[in-house]
Amino acid sequence: MLIKGPALIQPSEITPRAQFEARRRLLRAGAASLAAWTLRAAGAQEGPADTLGLLQESPFSIAEPPTPKKDLTSYNNFYEFGSNKQDPALQAYKLPTRPWSVAIDGLVHKPRRIAIENLLRLAPLEERIYRLRCVEGWSMVVPWVGIPLSVLLRQVEALSSARYVEFESFYEQKIMSSPIFGRLEWPYVEGLRLDEAMHPLTLVAVGLYGEVLPNQNGAPVRIVVPWKYGFKSAKSIVRIRFVEEQPLTSWRKAVPQDYGFYSNVNPDLIHPHWNQARERRLGEFRKRDTLPFNGYADQVAGMYAGMDLQRLF
Ligand code: MTE
Repeated sequence: MLIKGPALIQPSEITPRAQFEARRRLLRAGAASLAAWTLRAAGAQEGPADTLGLLQESPFSIAEPPTPKKDLTSYNNFYEFGSNKQDPALQAYKLPTRPWSVAIDGLVHKPRRIAIENLLRLAPLEERIYRLRCVEGWSMVVPWVGIPLSVLLRQVEALSSARYVEFESFYEQKIMSSPIFGRLEWPYVEGLRLDEAMHPLTLVAVGLYGEVLPNQNGAPVRIVVPWKYGFKSAKSIVRIRFVEEQPLTSWRKAVPQDYGFYSNVNPDLIHPHWNQARERRLGEFRKRDTLPFNGYADQVAGMYAGMDLQRLF
């Protein structure tokens, strides 16, 4: 996925100060309903939130219009619920999203298990709602709702030996695919280097389009890493583990020649099996050029300085 940042925002797109301050006042006045909304987002099974206007714009939001919600929710990868892009929308109703908690453990001083109802409360009010558009794998612009992952990670006080985090998705064989699907094994596992995980662009999302996350998009809580290909963004996570060694992630384990650990969006990568230079935006016919780091190079390229990104792809 790629994300565009402040450097790419046109002056005409910046909210005038008076309007911004009025929105701030509205935000404060709306704190109670915001809190109610966030709790509903985290705690409700379903149901639209009518407070979209109160969602805070993220400093990383981009100007492009979001992909229509029906496309975001009907064309998905969630292999536990089938391999066709239409399967998750049809099958993921089976996912039991309550009760739900996320364990955060491994190389930490204070392991914790956080109930979904409490997750958003961990972030300061200003950070609780994140209205972020980003460009994903086959390319789309998503108004995510969530908080920076760093807010969760700080809760447990990592040991100095921790260098990566590993994400584990929910898995229950009786409602999902059999233990080995194609070459993918369950539970789905992904991972990030600690600096990537702590980057403010990396989110834990609980909603999209101002509504509770639909099951097919990874309810009730998923990771979003906008400058990487979509498969790095683990859905329906139940555990975040701090580890010393690079995690063996699901796709890398299944097809190591095609999937690297980093998987930064890279149009220049000479890949043995496909060309990464162009992408098709959901709902569009013509392909467009893919941007390095999905357009978020200004924000994230520094983390990879000095690395050979052809080898460490
Ligand atoms: N997480 C789990 N648990 N299982 C999956 O199959 N697919 C990944 C990622 N997270 C996947 C997952 C892939 S390949 C992509 S492209 C994105 O989810 C798709 O997210 P979306 O359906 O919300 O666009």
